[in-house]
Amino acid sequence: MTLELRNLHAGYGRTQVLHDINLTVPAGAAVALLGSNGAGKTTLLKTIAGLVTPTSGELRWNGREQSHRSPHRRVADGVCLIPEGRGIFRNLTVAENLAMHTRGRGKAKAVETATRYFPVLGQRLSQTAGTMSGGQQQMLAVARALVTEPALLMIDELSVGLAPVVIDEIFAAIELLRAEGRSLLVVEQYVQRALAIADYVYILNKGRIVFIGEPAQCRSGTIFERYLGEGVA
Ligand SMILES: Nc1ncnc2c1ncn2[C@@H]1O[C@H](COP(=O)(O)OP(=O)(O)O)[C@@H](O)[C@H]1O
Ligand SMILES: [Mg+2]
Repeated sequence: MTLELRNLHAGYGRTQVLHDINLTVPAGAAVALLGSNGAGKTTLLKTIAGLVTPTSGELRWNGREQSHRSPHRRVADGVCLIPEGRGIFRNLTVAENLAMHTRGRGKAKAVETATRYFPVLGQRLSQTAGTMSGGQQQMLAVARALVTEPALLMIDELSVGLAPVVIDEIFAAIELLRAEGRSLLVVEQYVQRALAIADYVYILNKGRIVFIGEPAQCRSGTIFERYLGEGVA
């Protein structure tokens, strides 16, 4: 299951945000998508998820053009986005969040799958999601995605506002996901964490891909100083 973007352009109404994007996430690979604020990272993930419509170019999942397929169908085909700001239902309980898209016995299975990755959620199934800590809410967001058994998981700014110990726990779940052969496309503010799990790195600047490489090629720092405003030791 490979994700392929070819000469993709997209934006909001008349505002073009993404220009001529070429990006590949090979089956089972992890890709880190980096770039400064406003570079277009969220727009790119939303376009892949079907929440923003491309104006031209190709967007293929498993060889099949996706541009005119609904977000719902893409999720059913294994493409899942955890949006910025988590995308959980704060007024529902943890269990209701986990079982939202399932019925009957599927509900129990969803809860079982989620608590396998995040045991702490098992103790909070009847708690209203919005009353948990930020870290627990983020775990719930990841867990909700995992119960859909995605082949490609996209995560937008997972670590924002979270304590390092919580981020560790979530990244451990992500490692597990990778061990299961799933693909990842990750936008992450902590560059070192992103590099640690990535097979490939893409840097987006003003809506264009300006760098494609492997994490080892990013150590030099110059590319990061230029586009991210920071060096990488
Ligand atoms: N809903 C929207 N309508 C119009 N412009 C938007 C919208 N969302 C984002 N943008 C613009 O698109 C550009 C890229 O934003 P975004 O994809 O959120 O970047 P990033 O996630 O890299 O910070 C920015 O200039 C932003 O102002
Ligand atoms: Mg963003």
